Amino acid sequence: MATTNAISILGIPGSLRNGSYNRLLLNAARELMPSIAQLEVYDLADIPIYNQDNEQALPRSVEIFKQKILQADAILFASPEYNYSIPAVLKNAIDWASRPMGKSAWARKPAAVIGASAGMLGSVRAQYHLRQVLVALDMPTVNQPEVLVGTARACFDADGRLTDATSRDLLKRLLENLVDLTQTHRH
Ligand code: FNR
Repeated sequence: MATTNAISILGIPGSLRNGSYNRLLLNAARELMPSIAQLEVYDLADIPIYNQDNEQALPRSVEIFKQKILQADAILFASPEYNYSIPAVLKNAIDWASRPMGKSAWARKPAAVIGASAGMLGSVRAQYHLRQVLVALDMPTVNQPEVLVGTARACFDADGRLTDATSRDLLKRLLENLVDLTQTHRH
């Protein structure tokens, strides 16, 4: 946890895809972030498939991931929707960092959820599944506004910049609320 007033936020995209809209959404979050906060994006490509046999001696990439979470003041999840839920790659990483029992990296860490999807509903079903998981992880989470970037292809330009004005406005407000929640939890 940072010792200054500055706030460090770890952005976790739930997609490994080159050109992922959810990573582009995190790029937009970096652009729209309140000046007191900084966003680092953490790619999940190195996280192996979870196996409980290995959780007493965690894989090195999982140790590093857990350290990143512990050092951050807050977490920003950007998740696609896969078959009405969150992608396995994201749930897998969440499960690793919650273990071993009693040594979760997530506990009491403020969080916010955003998402983009090809469908019109903008990942809303995945976001609600993720919010349920965050209850299990004991993460205080920003409730409003919801950032649901539907029909994602139409919301980004050819350079990958989020151009949809409503999405930009909602994202900016959500980031302000995440910073407020993080500051409240510091006190
Ligand atoms: C999808 N997609 C999708 N979209 C949606 O709105 N609801 C859904 O249930 C699903 N299900 C689904 C399953 C699987 C296995 C894939 C690969 C895709 C489409 C999805 O929204 C689209 O691929 C996004 O572009 C994925 O996000 P990224 O990779 O662009 O961040």
